[in-house]
Amino acid sequence: MVKIVEKTEIAPNVHSCTVEAPDIARKALPGQFVIIIPDEYSERTPMTISDWDAKKGTVTFIFLEIGASTQKIAELKQGDELYSFTGPLGKPMEIKKFGTVALIGGCYGIGGIYPVARALKQAGNKIICFSEARSKFLLYWNEKLEEVSDEVRYSTVDGSIGFKGHAYDDIEEDLKTGKKFDRIIAIGCTYMMYRVSEASRPFSIETITSMNTVMIDGTGMCGACRLVVEDKTKFACVDGPHFDGHKVDWDIILSRRKAYLDEEIISQER
Ligand SMILES: Cc1cc2nc3c(=O)[nH]c(=O)nc-3n(C[C@H](O)[C@H](O)[C@H](O)COP(=O)(O)OP(=O)(O)OC[C@H]3O[C@@H](n4cnc5c(N)ncnc54)[C@H](O)[C@@H]3O)c2cc1C
Ligand code: FES
Repeated sequence: MVKIVEKTEIAPNVHSCTVEAPDIARKALPGQFVIIIPDEYSERTPMTISDWDAKKGTVTFIFLEIGASTQKIAELKQGDELYSFTGPLGKPMEIKKFGTVALIGGCYGIGGIYPVARALKQAGNKIICFSEARSKFLLYWNEKLEEVSDEVRYSTVDGSIGFKGHAYDDIEEDLKTGKKFDRIIAIGCTYMMYRVSEASRPFSIETITSMNTVMIDGTGMCGACRLVVEDKTKFACVDGPHFDGHKVDWDIILSRRKAYLDEEIISQER
């Protein structure tokens, strides 16, 4: 069991949770994730590691309260315990000097891009973060992103701050007007990552997307997280979660995401 040392609702339905997990804090690398079981009757829930402190032995994740498992985590308070917290899992994000890197984060992905931006900045890259939400009050970690970026661009669907629309439209405009990026990284909802990949495809800029498929064991044994990349079956948990968005079969991912919707609604009602 791991103890929750801090839990805050940083935006409506978006929570930041920091737990005592010294072994994971010592080994975590940008882009890795954990699998959480909130209580002994819960399913396994993958969460991206958004921050960690090896000295304090703590790990932070950001989560959206959307279904039964995330509601259970949301109900826990500082001092409560999570039944199981396993990680770090998955391959870390590739960190080296690429040049100018655009990182696009939406919903939980704003927290997801933060450690990647920090590591890429330390590796000497120019960092431009695109942080998106439906409205200004749903954005979070603005200061943290600004600390590790050369520029942070905001996009909101209602236009309350920054670009009016989605980050994928914002970066598409940049690309069409000749702005150069050496690498694009997108973390967040599947549709957003798909649209970012389609926006960059004509410009042949390597675009890394972080797959949030259904997962069970997270160690390559169950096959629940399978996806198709360049006509080959891959497991997001051990081969990813990061894949070249231009090579991913998005139709399969988008349809598999909805496979358990009826059961998810029943489980939430129960
Ligand atoms: C590698 C990886 C990293 C991830 N990192 C994060 C992260 O850092 N933060 C994060 O928040 N998530 C992250 N996810 C996604 C997260 O694991 C899932 O969102 C989580 O498992 C959802 O669990 P749940 O039981 O709360 O929701 P589920 O019940 O599984 O719901 C999933 C889907 O069903 C829909 N749904 C549920 N109930 C209803 C209802 N009553 N009516 C209509 N629709 C409904 C939801 O909108 C959602 O799309 C990650 C996933 C992966 C694979
Ligand atoms: S979650 Fe089981 S193989 Fe990936």
